[in-house]
Amino acid sequence: MPVLQEINATHITIFGGSGDLTKRKLIPALYNLYLEGSLNPKMKILCLGRTEMTDENFRKLMKAGVDEFSRRGKTIKKEWDVFAKYIFYLTADFLKPAFYKKLNADIKTFEKEVKTDVTKLFYLAVNPQFFLPISDFLHAQGLAANKDLCRIIIEKPFGTDLESAQELNKQLLKDFDEEQLYRIDHYLGKETVQNILAFRFANALFEPLWNRNYIDHIQITVAEKIGVEGRGGYYDHSGALRDMIQNHVMQLVCLIAMEPPVDFSAKEIRNKKVDVLHAIKKMTADNVHENAVRGQYAAGNIEGKKVPGYREEKSVTEESNTETFAALKLEIDNWRWSGVPIYIRSGKRMHETISVITIDFKPVPHHAFPAAATENWQPNRMVMNIQPDMGIRLRFQAKKPGLEMKLSPVDMTFDYKQAHPSGLPEGYETLLLDAMQGDQTLFMRADQVEAAWEIVMPALTAWKENGNANFPNYNAGTNGPEAGEALIARDGYSWLMIPFNEKL
Ligand code: BG6
Repeated sequence: MPVLQEINATHITIFGGSGDLTKRKLIPALYNLYLEGSLNPKMKILCLGRTEMTDENFRKLMKAGVDEFSRRGKTIKKEWDVFAKYIFYLTADFLKPAFYKKLNADIKTFEKEVKTDVTKLFYLAVNPQFFLPISDFLHAQGLAANKDLCRIIIEKPFGTDLESAQELNKQLLKDFDEEQLYRIDHYLGKETVQNILAFRFANALFEPLWNRNYIDHIQITVAEKIGVEGRGGYYDHSGALRDMIQNHVMQLVCLIAMEPPVDFSAKEIRNKKVDVLHAIKKMTADNVHENAVRGQYAAGNIEGKKVPGYREEKSVTEESNTETFAALKLEIDNWRWSGVPIYIRSGKRMHETISVITIDFKPVPHHAFPAAATENWQPNRMVMNIQPDMGIRLRFQAKKPGLEMKLSPVDMTFDYKQAHPSGLPEGYETLLLDAMQGDQTLFMRADQVEAAWEIVMPALTAWKENGNANFPNYNAGTNGPEAGEALIARDGYSWLMIPFNEKL
């Protein structure tokens, strides 16, 4: 969450340099930061991968990645050619100590060249099985010895359950200080997600209403039309609960429900967020079935095209019981939120791609208007659209034009694009810049990750024990299984998934 400071000279090592994330997200993000003038020109981006490749060929691949995936669209030759010179590629075997000597030499040479303090980022964009070996080697070879200037960025998934996350934290913290560890959840880099903090704590208007006295219930939906997109091998061992709920959706819950911070330091924000996780009522083996629902998509139609069922996806087993949809009902046991249900869900191959938070307020305490005026009366509703369109809207009642007193709901809209037509940075841009600046606010602390795992563990355990999930139970292109509807209908609500261009 940068208040822009000067950036040190930077050496970035990307483990997993020839992987998808580097091409789709990391290099486009660095390129955009470069175009914005946010980077120190004394910089080197060293990408590491197993495939043999020259710098030139690797740069060509990265250019194609930027052309395809950057929010700015295609590169401009003159600009790209200058930026490309910062990128280097090294064929590497991450499990061989000799390679780390080479890496050390590369960093030392760069330090000599630039003759100034260098921030060293080691970005682990690799399969999680390499997290520990790589960090052990970095430590053993003294590559990250300077605690102020050396930072390790770790991609998700951070563990596969509570125990593995605890073990990973324990091992990492043997080698490094918590202040050197940047556990990424790219949702926290999204503009609208950060805006939740601004909206809640920079306005006097909303915070007095932000509690059990005025809020009836909250819903969070993170839905995707895409399936597993060639990631079946990973996804089949993960599932929606691990892939989306434990991290991205839980972060949204934290930001919506946290107490006002005393200041905007990383420590304070992260403390307040972890308090929310601790206050979430833990499901038990007895009530997990009432509070957690899973689903898996069958074949169906997306935008008029036939798509296969999950079990037919590449690298997914025919009998797979992995969930591609998960919904939970949460309750936060604290003074502010007691009695306000929070419904969260996430799924693949759903009807829409949309991330949206809905806050429904309680009805007014007393109806003073005559019945005929209020046929259309609906309680206030606030909708925060995170993506694809970004904005915040509020539904309130107004008088319908005319001679009679009749009420009808109207929407007040804050449209991000309209307010900021120049384009918004992508999550990875913000997060990479934060890591360069040493700002950990938007990264996950060890205790946060573990607390989030604790919340989902009862469901993970119950679902593992009860292998027979009756899958598939929803068709691609729909909004999840019937059980998902039942979860919320039981309390008298229905799921809301309101796109930005639709009335509230
Ligand atoms: C990733 C998940 O963390 O987030 C993917 O592993 C998911 O399965 C992706 O598709 C969604 O991110 P975004 O930014 O496209 O909403």
